[in-house]
Amino acid sequence: MTTGKRLAGRVALISGGGGEIGGAIARLFATEGAEVAVADLDPDKAEAVARAILDGGGHARAFAVDVADEASAKAAVARSVEVFGKLTTVVNVAATITPDGTVETLSLDQWNKAIAVNLTGAFLMCKAAVPELRRAGGGSIVNIASQFGHVGVPLRSPYCTTKAALIHFTRILAMDHAADNIRANTISPGFILTERSSARSGGKAQARIVNGPRHLLNRPGEPDEIAAGALYLASDESSFVTASDLLIDGGYIAFKGKIGPDGKPALS
Ligand SMILES: NC(=O)c1ccc[n+]([C@@H]2O[C@H](COP(=O)([O-])OP(=O)(O)OC[C@H]3O[C@@H](n4cnc5c(N)ncnc54)[C@H](O)[C@@H]3O)[C@@H](O)[C@H]2O)c1
Repeated sequence: MTTGKRLAGRVALISGGGGEIGGAIARLFATEGAEVAVADLDPDKAEAVARAILDGGGHARAFAVDVADEASAKAAVARSVEVFGKLTTVVNVAATITPDGTVETLSLDQWNKAIAVNLTGAFLMCKAAVPELRRAGGGSIVNIASQFGHVGVPLRSPYCTTKAALIHFTRILAMDHAADNIRANTISPGFILTERSSARSGGKAQARIVNGPRHLLNRPGEPDEIAAGALYLASDESSFVTASDLLIDGGYIAFKGKIGPDGKPALS
C-alpha cells in the first residue's frame, strides 16, 4: 500500500481500537500522520495497538473506555484532548458480542446491553466529542455499522437492530452538525475475517469457507480493507461526503445467492 500523510495534523479517537478492525484503523491512521487515541474496554488490547504504533515511529496513546458509560466516554474524549491538544476525528468501532435468540428467549438485559454498547455507545462518544470537533474547526465521525444493518439474519435482532439504527443515527448526526463543518458517515462491512466474527464457525479457516461464497468476490474481507474506507472518510478526499453509508462488503448485500463450486455466482 502506498502511504502518505493524508491525516497530517489530525487527532483521531478510535473506540474499540484494541480490536482487529479498530486496530487496523488505528495503525493506518498513524501511518498517515494522525495522532491516535486508542480506546477500548480492554486496556491491554488498547495498549498493544498503541505500543505497535509507537514502535513504528507513530504517535498514539492507549485509554480504557466503556462507551456505554457516559462518564467514561467523556473522560476518553477529555484525556485525548489533554494529551494531543485537540480532537478532529472519531471512529466508533466498539461493539459488544450480542446473543442469539427470539423475543421469547432473549432477556431484557441482553437486549439493553446490545443497545447500550452498539448504539448508545456511539451516541455518548459523539455527545462528548462534538464540542471538541467544533472547537477544532470541524472534523469527521465514522461509525462502523454492518451489512446486517441493511439485511437481516434470523435470531440476531439485537445486533441487526443496533446496526440499522446506527446508520440512521449517523445520518441525523450529519444533519445536526453540518453547519459545524462536522461530517458523519457509516461504513457497513461485509463478513470481515476476525476472531470475533469467526467464532460462530469455529475459527478463521472454517469461517472463510462458510462465509466467502456469500460475497460476490467469493471471500471474506480483511480488517485492512475496512481501515482503507475509514481513512477515506476521515481524510479530505471525502470532503463532499456526509450522511452516507459506505458499503465495503464484497457485494454481500446485492447478492441473493452463493458462489458455486465453479467459482460463478449462483442462486442459493
Ligand atoms: N468482523 C466482521 O465480520 C464485522 C462485520 C460487520 C461489522 N463489524 C463491526 O466491526 C466492529 C469491529 O469488529 P471486530 O470483528 O474487529 O471485533 P473485535 O472484537 O476485534 O473488536 C471490538 C472491540 O470493541 C471493544 N469493546 C467491546 N465493548 C466495548 C465497550 N463497552 N467500550 C469500549 N470498547 C468495547 C472490544 O474490547 C474489542 O476490542 C464492530 O462494530 C462490529 O460490529 C464487524
